[in-house]
Amino acid sequence: MNAINRLAAVVSLASLLPLSALAAGPGTVEVTHWWTSGGEKAAVETLKKQVEADGFIWKDNAIAGGGGAAAMTVLKSRAVAGNPPAAAQVKGPDIQDWAALGLLTELDDVSKANNWDALLPPKIAKIMKYDDHYVAVPVNIHRVNWLWINPEVFKKAGAQVPTTLDELFAAADKLKAAGFQPLAHGGQPWQDATVFEDVALSVLGPKGYHAAFVALDEQALTGEPMKTVFAKLQKLATYMDPNRAGRDWNLAAGDVINGKAGMQIMGDWAKSEWTAAGKVAGKDYQCVPFPGTQGSFAYNIDSLAMFKLKDENDIKAQNDLAKVALEPTFQIVFNQNKGSLPVRQDLDLKQFDACTQQSAVDFKDAEKGDGLQPSMAHNMATSLAVQGAIFDVVSNFLNDPKADPAKAVTQLNSAIKSAK
Ligand code: BGC
Repeated sequence: MNAINRLAAVVSLASLLPLSALAAGPGTVEVTHWWTSGGEKAAVETLKKQVEADGFIWKDNAIAGGGGAAAMTVLKSRAVAGNPPAAAQVKGPDIQDWAALGLLTELDDVSKANNWDALLPPKIAKIMKYDDHYVAVPVNIHRVNWLWINPEVFKKAGAQVPTTLDELFAAADKLKAAGFQPLAHGGQPWQDATVFEDVALSVLGPKGYHAAFVALDEQALTGEPMKTVFAKLQKLATYMDPNRAGRDWNLAAGDVINGKAGMQIMGDWAKSEWTAAGKVAGKDYQCVPFPGTQGSFAYNIDSLAMFKLKDENDIKAQNDLAKVALEPTFQIVFNQNKGSLPVRQDLDLKQFDACTQQSAVDFKDAEKGDGLQPSMAHNMATSLAVQGAIFDVVSNFLNDPKADPAKAVTQLNSAIKSAK
């Protein structure tokens, strides 16, 4: 067949095909997320590569800003404009809100074909479902109540690894006396709230934490113990860099990695920065539960909510993303890079570092009693409106070194009341 005849054959074949097939190219999946630090990028790259290897196009919609507030603002405006992405990093109770608006798609085929009900812990599966249908896929389990330590700096300062809040203050004093920044921190509302939440879990215990930030119980929010939470938070702030306003969490992590600071209070995505810097858990750095929260596990589950799409090929790409997200290869490589636990319960954790292995043991222990609690600071416990109210009170408090803990407690309660 010469070139002209070949072209004619293609054209006549094309005339027999339906229009949709003519338009067919590989489907595109656009993903909105906030994984933009070095370590986070390495993690999300593993998802992109797998989707591309399956023949689909990955459209990256990364919105910088730890904790995701900026990404949520973009997502809302895109949804209002009728142009949501295929998938977006949406978490906890917020998944229900998006689904209730009728914007999320049901992932029945992919969830049944891949047996998600058997793979996922029931509590986590419940968060991902609306009206008993999966509308989101979880990728990991982060633990928020961690303290990251540079052992070299501790050694130089003669500081001991703390297990209680008082020991934490004692270690911070030693670091300060030796000329180090005791606590690396970024003054952004979600980072302030992360520290606040850890202190609350330490002072109130998991039951008290639950009463305050899940049940939003007025007594728990206004009691004497909550005043203590603010007082301890205020003391912690004295060990933070005074020029911390607006700093990103990964820059703060960098200060601990390069030995300028001794500690960081942050969830285990902080580990992604250590991993990206080629550091080894247990040797170059230490992870310990935030002092006083041993036995508790404040969980933060990253999940991708799937939006309704029209184009058949894009739907195929979206289903592929959902399938890949829970496959063993992806779960292992992604979580090794991300610092989190795989959400699948059937993987051999020997392939993970010491911190992840400890996290897995602590998760199981916490699950047995009251220890397993949803993270308020990371969108797992309350509506975003209530969370925003808490963020405001906590950040205003931290930004004023002379603020009164008793007043903060009153403000917290009334801010939550009006946001409910
Ligand atoms: C997310 C993590 C992310 C961290 C910092 C958390 O809310 O769950 O995936 O690494 O924010 O951006």
